[in-house]
Parts: sequence; C-alpha cells; structure tokens
Amino acid sequence: MKILFVCLGNICRSPAAEGVARVVVKELAEEITFDSAGLGNWHIGKPPHKPMRQVAAEKGYPIDDLSARQVKSTDFQEFDWIVAMDSSNLEELKRLKDLYGGKAQLSMLLDPKNHGQKDVPDPYYGDMDLFYESFGLIERAVPDFLRKL
Ligand code: 4NP
Repeated sequence: MKILFVCLGNICRSPAAEGVARVVVKELAEEITFDSAGLGNWHIGKPPHKPMRQVAAEKGYPIDDLSARQVKSTDFQEFDWIVAMDSSNLEELKRLKDLYGGKAQLSMLLDPKNHGQKDVPDPYYGDMDLFYESFGLIERAVPDFLRKL
C-alpha cells in the first residue's frame, strides 16, 4: 500500500502528515509506505518550513530529513491513495487525475464528522498557534485515516 499526502507547497501540512504516518505505521508494523508532495513548484528541494519542523519535533515526529517535491503524472499510477489536506488541493488533484488517468483513489485527510472540519488550515502565512492547530488536526487524522484502510 502506497500513500501520498498532498498540500499546496509541500513544506507545511503534507510533510507533517508524512512524519506522523511513518511513526504511526512503525508502531502498527503495517506494510504501508508514504510520501508527500505539493501542487505548486515554489519550494522544490527545500526542507519543511521551520515552524512546522519545530512543532513536529516537539510532538515527537521529526521531519527535518524531508524535502519538497511537486506532484507528478506518475504519482496517479504509483500510489494507491492520494490524500488532500484541503478542498482546493482535492479539486486540483481531481483535475490532474482526469488529465493523467491512473489507479490512485483520491481522499480528503479530515472527516468532518470526526474532526469537526473538512480542511487542514494552511498555516504558511499564520502565527505559531496556527501551526499547532494544523499539526494537531494532522496528528489525530492520520491514524484515523490509516485505520479506515
Ligand atoms: P503547505 O503550506 O501547502 O501546507 O505546504 C504552504 C506553503 C507555501 C505556500 C503556500 C502554502 N506558498 O504560497 O508558498
């Protein structure tokens, strides 16, 4: 099983989801591999944004080793699930899947019934509180998503 987490820049939300997923799966000893990618190309090759690295490390999910890449056409063939951090990410992923084809199933990360909202807020231009809020949602929702598979 291969899962790709996607956000806009691949420097805040989706690397955080990848960081949480790889810790959770190690605990479950499941055969699942992860990656993350962004829809935009602005931050290719960069590590996650410093405030998100800080929050992730503090919560026990260090992500300093990750580096940003852009979503590519072969992702829709390679991954079983592509998981969007917000509704606009999902709309763009639907458009790309129509274009490229592929087996990947598309999903939102959050389930509003469980997590109270549908979008993980984009913290990029926000303050530290927003990084904690986004990370907290991701930390809850990633194990919930994995359990549903
Ligand atoms: P992310 O946050 O999608 O969670 O990685 C963002 C990072 C960068 C930008 C937007 C969102 N940006 O516009 O550069």
